Amino acid sequence: MKKNLRPPILAGCMLAALLLSTADIYRTTSISAGGDAAIKLPNPVPMVALTFDDGPKPETTTRLLDALALREIPATFFLVGEFIPGNEPLIRRMAAEGHQVGVHSYSHIEIINLSRSDFDFEVTQTRKLLRDILGEGEYWLRPPYGILDESVLNWADSPIILWSLDPEDWKDRDTQRVVEEVLSRVKDGDILLFHDIYDSSVDAVIQITDALLEQGYCFGTVEQLLNAGGTPVEKGKIYRSSES
Ligand code: NI
Repeated sequence: MKKNLRPPILAGCMLAALLLSTADIYRTTSISAGGDAAIKLPNPVPMVALTFDDGPKPETTTRLLDALALREIPATFFLVGEFIPGNEPLIRRMAAEGHQVGVHSYSHIEIINLSRSDFDFEVTQTRKLLRDILGEGEYWLRPPYGILDESVLNWADSPIILWSLDPEDWKDRDTQRVVEEVLSRVKDGDILLFHDIYDSSVDAVIQITDALLEQGYCFGTVEQLLNAGGTPVEKGKIYRSSES
């Protein structure tokens, strides 16, 4: 039987958020113990968001979901609309296991210089497919290649999510290189970009999450990361990390 992962995931990340806000209170009130000795602050828990583009692809996405479930890690999936029909159970599984689901256009084109109806075909129609499967929701947008124009900002009807760390896992599909690049560059608040359509990327994410869990990192969906960082989230605004 599938386990409902929502409570433990939220508990872990809410604890992280609580520690962060407690640390802020200590900083601003300058509490000291017995005169000169300042109270040592708890280390804030670093938090990142894993994001996955270009799926769903049943074989690799399922393997990734299994790995994330085992580690109780929530992630965010930006789906390509044309791959949604036929993969409804996989998409329901994403939501049921606490992952955030978003839109990555319908046919993975650059969504710039589009007419309003072409934009709606790419973005609004994909969002409608998700609403039909998962119910009402904003289903945040990540434009293919991170390329956007003024019209995308005006018409997105959701926050627009880019990233702060891109190991270009699609380029050489070299698991070890991707692992080393991410672990040498990752920092608190990062939004990491991967593609759940390659086995090499799934392998890399397994190693990366195990290493980061060991280092004390907490994982959240993009929405949880922005909320934990106290970042106000607005439609038509671009977000690359918890610093935005
Ligand atoms: Ni893409």
